[in-house]
Amino acid sequence: MVIAIDGPAASGKSSVARRLARKIGFDYVNSGAMYRAVTWELLREGIDPARSESVEAALARISLDCGFSGDGEFFIRVNSELPEVELRESSVNSQVSEVSTIPAVRRLIGSRLHAVAAGRRVVMEGRDIGTAVFPETPHKFYLDASPEVRRRRRAAEGHNDSIEKRDRIDSTRRHAPLSVAPDANVIDTSHLTLEGVVEAISGILRQRGIGQE
Ligand code: DC
Repeated sequence: MVIAIDGPAASGKSSVARRLARKIGFDYVNSGAMYRAVTWELLREGIDPARSESVEAALARISLDCGFSGDGEFFIRVNSELPEVELRESSVNSQVSEVSTIPAVRRLIGSRLHAVAAGRRVVMEGRDIGTAVFPETPHKFYLDASPEVRRRRRAAEGHNDSIEKRDRIDSTRRHAPLSVAPDANVIDTSHLTLEGVVEAISGILRQRGIGQE
């Protein structure tokens, strides 16, 4: 079973998805981190993310795995490295949207996301989980917040990347762009606390018989 949490950068997805998963006893999967891991590896190899042919050639050599460690944490292994803080580097922030437009990258990550969710109950956050990766799940949530609030949240996290630029690339790319699934519950998190958003989602899920103690 997959609970999809989609939305733009700094809409609160990661904190909400992680907290929700813990609350209802599901595993947490961060699909954005997969795009970041591939971007990080490409940059490490000196590949220009804007050149899709070079990226495709590199993908054939990249081994990308993900799964859950003993304590239930989602991990990503790329060419036997386990990048964590590296995934938040500013070079990755500024290139990841470009890399995410490449269909071969989306296919590779999409297949890993299907494999990792098989036979499990997961809360998966991303941009296209409810629209493209698991469109059949009835449990779709789209988190949003005003650009001003999102900018402030990014700054508070110590990032000064352009979320407008990422929004633009993520929403206008040809393959699986960021968009609201017609059957998604849309939640504006601008004036809600983290706990408030988790409560709103878990309340809806409870009505569906999910996450009841
Ligand atoms: O959620 P995030 O900021 O870590 O995501 C980083 C980038 O990865 C985002 O700008 C676009 C891409 N992404 C995507 O294309 N599809 C997803 N399901 C998740 C992330």
